[in-house]
Formats: sequence, structure tokens, C-alpha cells
Amino acid sequence: MNQPTVIPGATTVGIVGAGPAGLLLARLLHRAGIDCVVLEARDRGYVEQRQRAGVLEQSTVDVLRASGAGARLEREGIVHDGIELSWNRRRHRIDFPSLTGGKRVWIYAQTEVVKDLIELQLADGAPLLFEAQATAVTGADTDRPVIHYAHEGIERTLACDYVVGCDGFHGVVRNAIPSGELTTYERVYPYSWFGILADVAPSNDELVYAHSPRGFALLSMRSHTVSRLYLQVPNGTDPHAWSDDEVWDELDARFAVDGDWKLARGPITQRSVLPLRSSVTEPLRWGRIFLAGDAGHIVPPTGAKGLNLAAADVTVLARAFEQLHRTGESAGLDDYSRHCLNRVWRAEHFSYFMTTTLHTAPEQNPFDTRLQLSQLDRIAASPHASAELALNYVGTAL
Ligand code: FAD
Ligand code: PHB
Repeated sequence: MNQPTVIPGATTVGIVGAGPAGLLLARLLHRAGIDCVVLEARDRGYVEQRQRAGVLEQSTVDVLRASGAGARLEREGIVHDGIELSWNRRRHRIDFPSLTGGKRVWIYAQTEVVKDLIELQLADGAPLLFEAQATAVTGADTDRPVIHYAHEGIERTLACDYVVGCDGFHGVVRNAIPSGELTTYERVYPYSWFGILADVAPSNDELVYAHSPRGFALLSMRSHTVSRLYLQVPNGTDPHAWSDDEVWDELDARFAVDGDWKLARGPITQRSVLPLRSSVTEPLRWGRIFLAGDAGHIVPPTGAKGLNLAAADVTVLARAFEQLHRTGESAGLDDYSRHCLNRVWRAEHFSYFMTTTLHTAPEQNPFDTRLQLSQLDRIAASPHASAELALNYVGTAL
């Protein structure tokens, strides 16, 4: 019903993937008058309901506003001025504005960002095809790469001036680049996150990142009435093997603090388990093929950076396409990979730092735990250490 009536066979920029990266890029290109087509393997409902990120940096909010997708975010987004860290049954608050020269973050779920962008795109935008699975990209070394995809049981092709892989970690666009041209740097962690959504008001006004002898836990939220919580669990954990009470008991144990704070319980409406991984593919461009967002890099979610990096990549890329379109200058496209990888590696380091400081590895010895606790004590005691965390968390301007 929402599909274009005429399916184009050619475009300027072919975008594979309608996650935040692909959708935002399509929006920015459309506003710059650049022709593009978005191909998405899944159906609209699936893409809109997929539970993921919750924290937006100011620069992500700014680009969403600039793309025309800021109205509901403005009304429903919740501005947060800090986070809390919990360890040794104590809490320490990191105050963002005082440590970062006035910066803050926004709580607005990725599901809502995606819904807003899809609605705009379908109302006034370039073609966006759901259930259109890219199978291969050929001609990566020519001036006219071709995306091969299957849509409504028909094999189709889309000839492009440029192809952008916004197709996530398991995407296919990367495979179009000869393997000898790419290097992937990777770390897989020996634990996963068990995430739940619960119909209960968040028990704290701000996010709580908890180090505990039983492992990491995170208290987050989707609104004033819906909580999002995570538990560190062993890889391979079945999210349905735990009863609701067992989940809440474990969360209680990990968030326990001295004093009378209590975690409110409510019906658990969704569960999932997410393995943690860090990965960077270099370079993010080969010939007329570009990688953006999770297609080029993955961070463990502990630093809340993945969606923000995806938004940063496509903002830089859209500016570069606009420069080419307006002036014929390709300097922005030529510099895309270097420019984005600087930010990506900073975010990789921060996400790794947050992950390894707050989680307990299966074979972790008491020495490693003392190092973690010493680092957390240092953050609490030192304005410099707090500021370093805060500046990384709120992100830098684009
Ligand atoms: P994706 O969202 O993965 O989108 C890729 C799209 O490509 C998908 O729709 C997929 O269906 C489509 N696709 C794949 N293959 C094909 C194909 N062959 N043909 C056509 N389409 C294809 N980030 C933050 O910034 N803050 C957070 O708080 C945060 N929390 C997170 C919590 C969890 C539990 C998880 C899982 C992630 C979290 N992230 C967070 C990370 C963030 O969700 C991702 O980094 C973000 O989704 C990346 O967007 P993307 O568009 O690059 O990729
Ligand atoms: C979330 O709300 O899903 C969330 C928040 C902060 C993180 C990761 C996930 O670091």
C-alpha cells in the first residue's frame, strides 16, 4: 500500500537498509535535491518495532531536526542532564551540563526515530521499498554499480552512481568490496545483554549503570511510563528461561544500594538477548561503494553510541554528496572514511572502556575487580575523570 507504484531501475544514490542510517541519509539527500532509492529487506512493522537504542546525543537531535524529523522528538523526547553510576552499594551522579559546558542528552527511542523518518519518507520523499532484499552489488569497480535485489518474488536491479551500505552488521554491500581492500578489527565479549521492556514508571529519573558482584545492570526508559532494563548474562542465554520474578529479583540484587531506594516492578512486555561486540571495518569507502552505521562499525551498547555514530556518518556523507551535487567537487566524498573513522575510534574506545569497567568477565579475578572499583572511585573523586566520561557520553559536535 505504501510502496511506490513505479519501481525505478536507476538512481543517483542506492541505499541498502532502512535503519536509522539509511532513512536519515535518504531524508538529507532528498532535501538536498539528490535522487535516491532505499531498499529494505524487512517489512515496515518489523523495522518500526525493533527495540534498540534509547539515548540521542545533541548532534543527533540537531540533524534529525534539520532533516525535518524533529517535531515529535521535540514534544515527547526527555532531556537528561546526567547519568548515575552504581557500585559498592553506592551511587554517583555525573552531571553533564556542569562538566561539558552545558551539554545534555535526549531519551527518545530508536523505534520512534525510525517511525518518524519512515512517515516523512513515504509522505514526501524518495522511493522506499520494504521487503526488498539486496542479494549482491556488482560493478563496484565501475562508474555504475548495480544493486541486485528480490522484491515481491521478482529479481530486480537498481543501477546507481553510488551505493551506500546502511545494511547493518550482517549486510551484503560490504561483500561487494574485494576482501583484500578491507581490514576488520574486532573484539567479541564473553557476555551478552538480556533486555526487557516493562510497563512500569522508571524507578529513577536518570539512567543508572550498575557494577555489581553479580554482573552489570542498566536502568533506562522509553517514556515516563515504560522502563527499559538490561542485565549482563552469559552468551547463549535464553531470554524466556527466566520467570518475571527471577528477572526482577536479579535486577534488585544488582541495583541494591544502602538506603531506601527500591526498584518498582511491572509486567514485562518484551525480552531479547544481545551479544556484545566491537568491530571496525576500514576504509568505509571503496570506489563508488560507501559503508555507514553498523555496516561499517559496531560498538557494545554500554556507551550508547551506535545510533549516534550512524547518524554522524550519514550527516557527513550527505554533506559530501551535496558538495558534489552543487559544485562538482568530490573532496568531501574522498575524505569521508578518514573523517568518520576518527569519531568511530573515539566511540569504540569509550564503549570498550564503559563495557570493561562495568561488566564482570566469566574468568575475572579479584585483581581485575579491584581495578574496576578503583577506576569508579577515581571517577567519583576527580572532576577531570568525571568530565572525561561526561564529554564522551554527550558526544562532540559534527
Ligand atoms: P540497523 O539499524 O541495523 O539497520 C540496518 C537495516 O538494513 C535493517 O533494517 C536491516 O533489515 C536492513 N538490511 C540488512 N541487510 C539487508 C539487505 N541485504 N537488503 C536490504 N536491507 C537489509 N545506539 C545508541 O546510539 N544508543 C543506545 O542507547 C543504543 N542502545 C542499543 C541497545 C540495543 C539493545 C541494541 C541492539 C543496539 C543499541 N544501540 C544503541 C545501537 C544502535 O541500535 C545501532 O547502532 C543502530 O541501529 C545502527 O543503525 P543502522 O541504520 O546503521 O543499522
Ligand atoms: C537503552 O535505553 O536502550 C539504552 C540506554 C543506554 C545504553 C544502552 C541502551 O547505554
